[in-house]
Amino acid sequence: MSPASPQQPTWDAVDRALEQWLAPQDEALRAATASADREGLPRIAVSPAQGRLLEVLALAIGARRILEIGTLAGFSTIWLARGLVPGGSLVTLELDPERARLARTNIDRAKLTAKVEVMVGPALASLESLRSAATPPFDLIFIDADKENCPAYLDHAVALSREGTLIVVDNAIRRGRLIETETGDASVEGVRAMMDRIGKDPRLAAAGIQTVGAKGYDGIVLALVGDAPRAAGDPLDILLRHDAWATREVLRACGGLTEEQWHRRFEIGPGSLHDALTHVVGAMLRWADRIDGPPTELRPSIEGVAQRTPAELLALLEAAESGLAASADRARARGLGTEFEVPLAGKTHRFTLGAALVHVTTHGMHHRAQCLNMLRHLSVPGISDRLPEIDPLDWQLQAEA
Ligand code: SAH
Ligand code: DHB
Ligand code: MG
Repeated sequence: MSPASPQQPTWDAVDRALEQWLAPQDEALRAATASADREGLPRIAVSPAQGRLLEVLALAIGARRILEIGTLAGFSTIWLARGLVPGGSLVTLELDPERARLARTNIDRAKLTAKVEVMVGPALASLESLRSAATPPFDLIFIDADKENCPAYLDHAVALSREGTLIVVDNAIRRGRLIETETGDASVEGVRAMMDRIGKDPRLAAAGIQTVGAKGYDGIVLALVGDAPRAAGDPLDILLRHDAWATREVLRACGGLTEEQWHRRFEIGPGSLHDALTHVVGAMLRWADRIDGPPTELRPSIEGVAQRTPAELLALLEAAESGLAASADRARARGLGTEFEVPLAGKTHRFTLGAALVHVTTHGMHHRAQCLNMLRHLSVPGISDRLPEIDPLDWQLQAEA
């Protein structure tokens, strides 16, 4: 192993400064570190600056469910759990019962017991049991246990993910040992094999970053889980994907219109192509918020405010599609029969999550038909005589082609 860097004192001092500016520790975090020292645990928890990074990442993605592999005394667990949205939860896996017990004490001191479950035992066994219990997907997964098993942890993490899940791997660089071949060191081999897998997995968009700081020279990998090749047998998946695809097709056709045509008034539906398609995307955003429910509040409506080009609306549709898919995943996890309240025009109604999702995906269909009619009436050669074919059958045929 390469010697400690002569730069280490600077890295330590900078990490202390970063901690003071951006990652101040409270009593609960300090007590967690002190307890680990008292019990003689290795000083391998994330630094405060890194802990704060984990918290900020969780906040950024609005994490509702977090999985951590490797608890130690619960130091990173506390940072991560503080990044959860209200009502969110975290599962952390620890081999050693003594460490798990200590972590529970520290988590309790941080007043996070209600949100955090510590599972004791070999992480591979705990991961198997999470998978066989059909646990809903996690939004963020932090891999930070023994490095030998990194390839297997990665596979389990992907299996416990949804589209949009963020996987963070600690200690990916290990003072540069990552690039050494045939070391005979299982932890180096483990990280290298994991890197090979990440690089080859078409579902993962990943970045590796070298870091220096109080923990020396190391690094992290961030992997974003993408689109899975799906069996496409699930009616809700089909509705969600077809709906977004069909709206995209209509918006593409509108890309060839003049501004006047895009805003031309018709005595039908919301009144123009711009207004009807803004309404379709606006409803996706609104229903995603309603489905997520308190504490999520409705975003400001996108309708009747700014005017957008078809390209701008397409970009907004992409965001609305992935947001709605994430809300649908969470709705599935809660049970599609779960009822929730929807205030509409001064009156409160009760819908099931399933009914809301069927509504929002078929609502688009109604307004797209109006759009096709408007496009036809515009009599634009190449568009009005070649209206997009957008029913689910066309979608299937196109996917086949
Ligand atoms: N995430 C912690 C540090 C974790 S250190 C923090 O930053 O605060 C790695 C932990 O993984 C150790 O506590 C170790 O006991 C645990 N571990 C090692 N092998 C394991 C395994 N096979 N299953 C579960 N946990 C394991
Ligand atoms: C080790 C493990 C860690 O999770 C870490 O952050 C640093 C070192 C180790 O096992 O040596
Ligand atoms: Mg680590």
